[in-house]
Amino acid sequence: MTHFVRSMIGPSLLACDLSNMAHESRRVLAAGADFLHIDVMDGHFVPNLTFGAPVISSLRKNIPDAIFDVHLMVTNPEKWVADMASAGATYFTFHVEIEKTEAEKWQLIEDIKKHGMKVGIAVKPKTPIESVFPFIQGLDLVLVMTVEPGFGGQKFMDDMMPKVQSLRLQYPNLDIEVDGGLSPATIDIAASAGANWIVAGSAVFKSDPVSVISSLKSYVSPMYS
Ligand code: DX5
Ligand code: ZN
Repeated sequence: MTHFVRSMIGPSLLACDLSNMAHESRRVLAAGADFLHIDVMDGHFVPNLTFGAPVISSLRKNIPDAIFDVHLMVTNPEKWVADMASAGATYFTFHVEIEKTEAEKWQLIEDIKKHGMKVGIAVKPKTPIESVFPFIQGLDLVLVMTVEPGFGGQKFMDDMMPKVQSLRLQYPNLDIEVDGGLSPATIDIAASAGANWIVAGSAVFKSDPVSVISSLKSYVSPMYS
């Protein structure tokens, strides 16, 4: 499928040595990572707890230039817009499943932009992709989850690819991110469906980042523009 967006590889820091986040970030950036994917979990929206703005802010002091793609798996993302902006988040991605009205979600989108961040919406596996359609004009990114959010190291769900295809068909210039179970063995399916932002946690950190990132890039490189 032809599209005209740049392909990007982003290691998910969830799988790194979390006591050495800055070092781990430098290591994958040197290995060719295009952005850093940072998973914020509140133990409520998902059954796991990670970290919040103070950790991201601390990381930003050590990593001044990279794109911080912050994926908020939290019930009340609107509470963290200002904190994430001052912490240095580049992208603020919230879940479409949060219990808010369409108007409240629009308000959130506007607020994220006002704070100088880019906006993404994420979709869990059981949520139809149509749920993001009303917001597309306000978004920089759509994240199609390819595992149930909450944990790294799960199996890639290739039955999510019709969502990616349907988005790509309608929005040739949209940045479409896939997250969960991506590796050199699964990236081909995702890239051919039209995904161009590829998150990979375990695949990158549990192996040699240089060879894994270059392998991932070789699959998506025909789509680099
Ligand atoms: C899951 C997270 C993912 C996760 C991906 O809730 O959103 O970003 O870290 O990890 P892997 O690549 O190991 O599936
Ligand atoms: Zn994520």
